[in-house]
Amino acid sequence: DQQERGELLKAYELVARVYRSILMNTAQGRDALSYLRTRGMSDELLETFQIGYAPNMWDALVKQLEKSGFKLPLMDQGGLVSAKSDGQGYVDKFRDRVMIPIHDAKGRVIAFGGRAMGDVQPKYLNSPESLLFHKSRSLYNLHRARAEIRKREQAVLFEGYFDVIRAWDAGVHHGVATMGTALTKEHAEALKRLTGEVVVCYDGDNAGQAAAYKSIAILEQAGLSVKIAMLEGGKDPDEYIAAYGKDRFVREIIEGAVTTTKFRLVYARRNVRLQDEADRLRYLRGAVKLISELASPIEREHYLRDLSSEFGISIETLKQDVAQHLLRKE
Ligand code: GTP
Ligand code: MN
Ligand code: MN
Ligand code: MN
Ligand code: MN
Repeated sequence: DQQERGELLKAYELVARVYRSILMNTAQGRDALSYLRTRGMSDELLETFQIGYAPNMWDALVKQLEKSGFKLPLMDQGGLVSAKSDGQGYVDKFRDRVMIPIHDAKGRVIAFGGRAMGDVQPKYLNSPESLLFHKSRSLYNLHRARAEIRKREQAVLFEGYFDVIRAWDAGVHHGVATMGTALTKEHAEALKRLTGEVVVCYDGDNAGQAAAYKSIAILEQAGLSVKIAMLEGGKDPDEYIAAYGKDRFVREIIEGAVTTTKFRLVYARRNVRLQDEADRLRYLRGAVKLISELASPIEREHYLRDLSSEFGISIETLKQDVAQHLLRKE
């Protein structure tokens, strides 16, 4: 109910402050701070994103929350502490993790993403669903990005927290991310309330590109027009910026975002050996079929010209093939 929500919001605010202070001002936070430094995080970025550290202790939060008068069963429900298995008291939920606060639309902390620093599994531990947090509806960074999304009439959708943060550092202030969950209709609708266009900038690995492919339909269903910022070579946006710099990321990847048709054409080629004749023909037939599904003759011609010049097949022949597809559809 309302009162419990209010209590939980106060607790999250306190906890975010505690984690932040442990990271910046204590010896316990030293390794986490150097981990973040090696990931390119300046003090300014850490401040902007309110990043903190949950110490390697069982009761740092439990004690702090009790001292401040919070009721531990509610804190358990809210995902900050866990009941011990023997039923005797509570322990901290997050230990030895870099803590990334997740905010609601009003900028209030409602959850955390916790990044382990070594090879500990899971790599990310997120707050559970609670009175405050519903991951199928929440987008990371939406409250900071909202004004810029409106201004640019565009949002950029990433997979990961660090992608959003690094991109922000590169001047991309209209980026958001889902949190360990596939994009939902609710996410798409939340974006549609702010803008008409989304640039999907997912990881360049197979999983990321497959997820980008799936996101297209969901975004288009919500009435959004979609572009794809393609990262080839398996890097994610964070890794790309670390390797090639901010400017190149903005110019080549974000501003170089391609249409969904272009993305589908590139995607269809990923396992095709173009030097193999049968493979090449199969790709061409698939490509022509995809192009024939476009409603606009201008767009069809545009993509057919690319195919024509790349494969040395006349545009007339390609158009005949398209005509056959259109006939079959009738
Ligand atoms: P870094 O290694 O810190 O750069 O993370 P990443 O964002 O590149 O991770 P990855 O591409 O593997 O996953 C993308 C996003 O999925 C992450 O930002 C998380 O939100 C989520 N995710 C990844 N691993 C886990 C996990 O083990 N558990 C949960 N719940 N979510 C995860
Ligand atoms: Mn829920
Ligand atoms: Mn990935
Ligand atoms: Mn990634
Ligand atoms: Mn990453």
